[in-house]
Amino acid sequence: MADPGDVDARPARTSDPRPDARALAAVLAASDQGAHTCPSPDTYPHQWAWDSCLTALGWATLDPARGYAEIESLLGAALPGGMVPHIAYTPARDGYMPGPEWWGRTGADGRAVSGITQPPLAGTCLALISARHPDPARARRLLEPAAAWHRALARERGADTGGEPVLVHPWESGRDDAPEWDAPLAAAPVPGRAYVRRDTDRIPGAERPTDADYRAYMGLVEWLGAHRDEPERARTGPFRVLDPAFSGILARSAHDLAGLAERLGDRALAAEQRAIADRVDAAVARRSGPGGLAPVLDLVTGRPAALPGAGLALQALRPAVPMAAIRRIARRCTTGDLASPVGVRSLAAGVPGAEPRRYWRGPVWAPVTWLAALGLERADPAAAAGLRARLLAGVARHGAYEYLSPDGEERLGARTLAWTAALALWELGRASATPAGRTRRPGAPRPPRGAGPPR
Ligand code: SER
Repeated sequence: MADPGDVDARPARTSDPRPDARALAAVLAASDQGAHTCPSPDTYPHQWAWDSCLTALGWATLDPARGYAEIESLLGAALPGGMVPHIAYTPARDGYMPGPEWWGRTGADGRAVSGITQPPLAGTCLALISARHPDPARARRLLEPAAAWHRALARERGADTGGEPVLVHPWESGRDDAPEWDAPLAAAPVPGRAYVRRDTDRIPGAERPTDADYRAYMGLVEWLGAHRDEPERARTGPFRVLDPAFSGILARSAHDLAGLAERLGDRALAAEQRAIADRVDAAVARRSGPGGLAPVLDLVTGRPAALPGAGLALQALRPAVPMAAIRRIARRCTTGDLASPVGVRSLAAGVPGAEPRRYWRGPVWAPVTWLAALGLERADPAAAAGLRARLLAGVARHGAYEYLSPDGEERLGARTLAWTAALALWELGRASATPAGRTRRPGAPRPPRGAGPPR
């Protein structure tokens, strides 16, 4: 394994290996379901929320209309109350467990959906797409459903926590088996119904969560299936955590959506979303240490946990996180314990629970590297560029794999993941964007007055 001290934050160089854009476009095409994209055709045949938001960036690079369509489709599947489900099931696609029968829920557009959510990235991704490929009419129609997702999280899940949403299942964090969840999962009920894992049909068990994790996941799915009231879940659920990475993403997405709404002339929505961003931001800040970062908090036991991993790196996204904290995250991600030649480690080596090949317990994921870069940009643009160069180098060498070993040598998980391809495409597209962040396409509509890229 590479010594973390051996890697440094290099700005992107033209001599760095570049992925083949046509191969990346083929990955998206193979996962395209028409109006939505599945992360991978075999292992993940449905639409996942945070995958879909990031995948929209890749589509926007190839075809801006398809990028908007991806977000329209995701937000169209919202649950009553506005929260976006973590999965919207592709009709008639089998091969994934838990299927829709475990949830018994239906989204606004009639699709079967899950009953939990995932990191809300629609506001941030919509603002980014809108800055590079403006389509004010289409973006304006997406403001309200994106805002409703933030509103539901801050109000229904954050009523007792100053707006920070209480997560009720590890899947909501997006980082399923991160060791932060080991202790909170001890309180998960034992599932009453039999199930058969399908995730290990094609992927070695050593690269996926353990059977013990799945028992806890399914026990929670059953409990959540029987308890649909969000405030009740947040007050009495067997798994209840505050995740500063999720909260930071929510604050960032509401902040970015507010900026977009302002540019599109919707002052009321902008003010509401800014208030949500500020409230969530302040709630995280209140429980942060002197370094400006907050621990995960298990609300069932009251125990905090702070581990060096993806959850720490993603805190750079929180709008009001101190610049000094971002610079420290930048050092850890580029030359420190979270650095790797292909991006940001999901867990530092040597930490209890670290397993370099297992899912969220060590491997390097493209979305973490990319989102960390987005967060670092304000305080350390060279570090952000260095992380993006590593992401591209990993994809150039291995293709659009789900995740890579932290030494950059092994490709792991699903053979193709839509968001890996999409983020690489978005970064390749950066070169052809203007300094203001917009791509000048012949005949493209002019942006509204005062429009600018999100921070
Ligand atoms: N990431 C989960 C899985 O692996 C689902 O949300 O199935």
